[in-house]
Amino acid sequence: MKTLVIGANGQIGRQFCEIASRAGVPIRAMIRHPDQQTWFRERGIETTIADLEGDLRHAFHGCDQAIFTAGSGPHTGPDKTLMIDLHGAIRCIDLAVELGLERFVMVSALRASDPLAAPEKMRPYMAAKFAADAYLRNAHVPHVILKPARLTDEPATRQVSTSIRSAPALDVSRGNVAHALTYLAQARTLKNREFDLLDGESTIAMALV
Ligand SMILES: NC(=O)c1ccc[n+]([C@@H]2O[C@H](COP(=O)([O-])OP(=O)(O)OC[C@H]3O[C@@H](n4cnc5c(N)ncnc54)[C@H](OP(=O)(O)O)[C@@H]3O)[C@@H](O)[C@H]2O)c1
Repeated sequence: MKTLVIGANGQIGRQFCEIASRAGVPIRAMIRHPDQQTWFRERGIETTIADLEGDLRHAFHGCDQAIFTAGSGPHTGPDKTLMIDLHGAIRCIDLAVELGLERFVMVSALRASDPLAAPEKMRPYMAAKFAADAYLRNAHVPHVILKPARLTDEPATRQVSTSIRSAPALDVSRGNVAHALTYLAQARTLKNREFDLLDGESTIAMALV
C-alpha cells in the first residue's frame, strides 16, 4: 500500500512527506534531481527520480495510489503550465489507469471549475487545472480532487473548512493541505469525491467526509 508523491520536493510535498512518514504511511517521493535526495534520505523516505516532461513509468511501479501535488509555479510561463500542470497530470493519470492504481488524489485549486472568473494572468493555470480535473473525473481510476484556496505559509492549525461561505478568508496554509493529504492517503474508502479546502474550524476528519 504505497503512495507515490508527485511533486514531493515542493512546499506542500515536503510537508506532506514529513507528516505522512511520521504517521507510518508508506510513501515514495518522486523528485527531479539526485541532489534533492538528501533531505528525504535523512527522514528515511524512499525516493525515485522522474520528470513530468520525461520518463515516468518506473516511478509508479509498486505503488497503489498517487498524489499529484506538482506544479510549474508562478515563475514560469503558460508553456510550462501546459506541460506540467496539464500534460504532466494527464500522463500520470494515464499511468495510474494503465497500471491499475487504486486511487489518484489530485491537488487542484479552488474555483478551477471557472477559469474565466480568475484574474487574467491566472487563467491559463486555472484552465490547466480545470482540464486536468475533467480528465481525471472521466478516467478509469477512483479519485479524490482536493481544491485548496490561496496557499499561505501560516502554521498548520489542522482546522479546515470545505465551504467558501463558512470560511473566514479564502486562504489555506500549506501545512493544513499537507495534513489533509495525509488524512486522504489513509482514508482509502473516499473515492470519486471533491473537496474545496480552506482554513476553518473543523477537524480534517470532520470536514473530509
Ligand atoms: N499557489 C497557490 O495559491 C495554489 C493554490 C491552490 C493549489 N495550488 C497547487 O498546489 C500544488 C503545490 O503547491 P506548492 O506550493 O507545494 O508548489 P511548489 O512548491 O512550487 O512545488 C511544486 C513541485 O512540482 C515540482 N515540479 C515542477 N515541474 C516538475 C516536473 N517537470 N517534473 C516533476 N516535478 C515537477 C517541483 O519540483 P522541484 O522541487 O524540482 O522544482 C516542485 O517540487 C500545485 O499543484 C499548485 O498548482 C497552488
